[in-house]
Amino acid sequence: MCGIVGYVGARPALGIVLDGLRRLEYRGYDSAGVAIVCDDELRTEKRAGKLTNLEKAFGDERFGTGTAEDTTTVDSTCCPAPVGIGDGTAGIGHTRWATHGGPTDRNAHPHLSRDGRVAVIHNGIIENFAKLVAELEADGVEFVSDTDTECAAHLLAAALADLRAAGEPEGPRLLAAAMRRVCQRLEGAFTLLAVDASIPDAVVGARRNSPLVVGRGPGEHYLASDVSAFIEHTRDAVELGQDQVVLITADSIEITDFDGAPALGRDFHIDWDASAAEKGGYDYFMLKEIAEQPQAVADTLLGRLTESGEIMLDEVRLTDQDLRDVDKIFIVACGTAYHSGMIAKYAIEHWTRIPCEVELASEFRYRDPVLDRSTLVVAISQSGETMDTLMALRHAKEQKARVLAICNTNGSTIPRESDAVLYTHGGPEIAVASTKAFLTMVVACYLIGLHLAQVRGIKYADEVEAVVSQLQGIPDKLRQLLASMEPVRQLARDLSTANQVLFIGRHVGYPVALEGALKLKELAYMHAEGFAAGELKHGPIALIDQGTPVVCVVPSPAGRGMLHDKIVSNIQEVRARGARTVVIAEEGDTAVARYADDLIYVPRTPTLLAPLLTTVPLQVLACEIAAARGHDVDQPRNLAKSVTVE
Ligand code: F6R
Repeated sequence: MCGIVGYVGARPALGIVLDGLRRLEYRGYDSAGVAIVCDDELRTEKRAGKLTNLEKAFGDERFGTGTAEDTTTVDSTCCPAPVGIGDGTAGIGHTRWATHGGPTDRNAHPHLSRDGRVAVIHNGIIENFAKLVAELEADGVEFVSDTDTECAAHLLAAALADLRAAGEPEGPRLLAAAMRRVCQRLEGAFTLLAVDASIPDAVVGARRNSPLVVGRGPGEHYLASDVSAFIEHTRDAVELGQDQVVLITADSIEITDFDGAPALGRDFHIDWDASAAEKGGYDYFMLKEIAEQPQAVADTLLGRLTESGEIMLDEVRLTDQDLRDVDKIFIVACGTAYHSGMIAKYAIEHWTRIPCEVELASEFRYRDPVLDRSTLVVAISQSGETMDTLMALRHAKEQKARVLAICNTNGSTIPRESDAVLYTHGGPEIAVASTKAFLTMVVACYLIGLHLAQVRGIKYADEVEAVVSQLQGIPDKLRQLLASMEPVRQLARDLSTANQVLFIGRHVGYPVALEGALKLKELAYMHAEGFAAGELKHGPIALIDQGTPVVCVVPSPAGRGMLHDKIVSNIQEVRARGARTVVIAEEGDTAVARYADDLIYVPRTPTLLAPLLTTVPLQVLACEIAAARGHDVDQPRNLAKSVTVE
């Protein structure tokens, strides 16, 4: 997930683009760059690190010196800012969250054509980039970065050259025509913006499965990943549809489909102001990240299935034989990541028939677990820097076990020290409480389970495809679910004065209950506990008093019937003791409705995948209860996003 801005108008583009990038920095901040068209030339500048590094490259006198906290040194001898870059009135800018290629100056966007006259920035993943790179290399193109994006720059330059050679008239529409040709070659998800030095008064954009909006100003237009980039200049915007190309000049917006047929965007007015922009219009980063979950899950699934139906991991330094030799799996993780591992255990054991244990990373090495060459240790970490998990991983490696990492942060320590990696493509998570990272870690665990089952010959390609296709249906179900959260918000206001909230679940609903309780503890500072529903009668049921809220995560009645019946009995038990039951159940589950004081339905989905849906109302509940109690939702007390001490 990256942030993208484009501008054409009468004012200097550089300042406008940099301001837009500042507002989009939440989308990624491992490098940033701009390309400005001036004097029939392209002036580009890019830097690894936060945006402030890029700003410093333009000199204090024009764009300030960045934030006082940032102490990163900028090497001013590397690509000094060219004179005149501040004068151009058309330009593009990018703030990156690395997917292909590490976060370096070289891999930062924009990427240029060989002659340096075409610049492209990109958000998304070009799935067929390997094939395109091979083709371009065969034509003599030398790649200078490790990104999937660079091929789009070379393809665009080639398309422009072909159109010019065919006698097409020079001008902005030539750029749009060339972009359409490029889009027809690309697979995957992308937002692309491009400029051409020979077409100084236009920026072209294209969109497939990745966001792009147009801002309308008087005598100027903007393109951006979201409206926050241009909200201080205009509140009139146009949302593009899928598979559309948009060409902006100072006076016009032209939208077509990828075949060149005229198309329409959706006009809208933005009803919030610039002060909310950093959070994309949400009150908290956490709410924004909850809302991003459909896209985060879709991005994590993107490009995972090869044409022959095999699951692809990212970096694999293990052979299929290594995976066939695995006779035991340990999942190690902390906090929310640990809960994702608990869910994974159900799926992995069911699909692979390999015994799978889930361990708190902070406890793992102290109990001297039995590990050897045929043990697979799966280390799950959003940040990739959690010290407890890193230490567990190192212990596993010392004992000769193989380590596979699931991580949301490209190039961080945990994936670097592992034998294989599967990156979640959840995008940067800023709120301390993990939401979208949790869902994407669960998805990644499912993919690993399927991969192991396939390599070991337990599942055939068509069976794997069937599960992947169920997973691919999750983003739409999440969108539907997120659109129905208003009653949960109301309920949160009601529960915000409770002394405690208990959560119960069975099977994969049990870790969901634990996760719901953790979210409430860390955000609302309330006593909250999650239990396996069957354990209540062995002690915790004594906690229930008149009106105690008990959140019950109910499995699908269409799945294992016995599971459903058992939890319905547990709900009756707590109700009989005065509990207020908040029931999370599958749409159409009328049997449970009569035992629910509050009922939240989630869309139907197979039992093993249900946590991807049932967790969401619990995230919203915790966030809203915390807000109602007046807490800082994004930065709860005593916590930090990345825990680098043991
Ligand atoms: C809770 C939360 C933490 C993290 C834990 C592990 O909302 O975010 O419990 O899950 O600190 O962090 P990572 O995944 O970065 O290893």
